[in-house]
Amino acid sequence: MSKVTVVDHPLVQHKLTLMRDINCGTKDFRQLLEEIAMLMAYEVTRELPLEEIEIETPITKCKSKIIAGKKLGIVPILRAGLGMVDGVLALVPTAKVGHIGLYRDPETHLPVEYYCKLPMDVAERDLIVVDPMLATGGSSIAAIEFIKRRGYKSITLMCLVGCPEGIEAVQKAHPDVNIYIAAIDEKLNENKYIVPGLGDAGDRLFGTK
Ligand code: PRP
Ligand code: URA
Repeated sequence: MSKVTVVDHPLVQHKLTLMRDINCGTKDFRQLLEEIAMLMAYEVTRELPLEEIEIETPITKCKSKIIAGKKLGIVPILRAGLGMVDGVLALVPTAKVGHIGLYRDPETHLPVEYYCKLPMDVAERDLIVVDPMLATGGSSIAAIEFIKRRGYKSITLMCLVGCPEGIEAVQKAHPDVNIYIAAIDEKLNENKYIVPGLGDAGDRLFGTK
């Protein structure tokens, strides 16, 4: 079974509270989401393997550590995942960025795919899929399925707010995918929105509706 890590760093929790507030406007919402994504990326990348290389400082030659192994890719689930990309890129500027377009059908609440473009070098990349909301889990599950179908094997999911139902669904569908999340809320309401949640992340991020 995959690991679920709640990123409970005080800065993350503080910024998330500001975002949840109904009075938080688009500009602040966007900025806070980017900042939280950066802080969470610090945790997600904590266990990247290191290797020693030899370098020369102005003083002497020495061995020093750099990140070893595969390179990273970031895959936002459109639209709201876009708001997390720059935060991750601030820490990992060389990461490539793929995109998956999905929306939840308002009647069935099931994800509908409309776009998918991923980095080509499948074998070389560890992917971080980013989406602020993990509600039923349908969108994340579908996105990860599309990614796996294209050959990617090393995938981590990074979300802001989830609920037990959605997390369990992702764990069941993709037991190999570890999840990083800032908060696990109480439940879903009858419209499959997270309670208390923060409302519709895409609309709040882009000022639509
Ligand atoms: C939101 C959110 C997730 C999805 C979560 O996107 O950004 O992708 O809902 O819900 P789920 O876990 O039940 O699938 P939405 O479908 O509203 O699209 P948008 O980002 O384009 O607004
Ligand atoms: N999508 C959102 O944007 N918010 C929710 O609470 C659930 C799905």
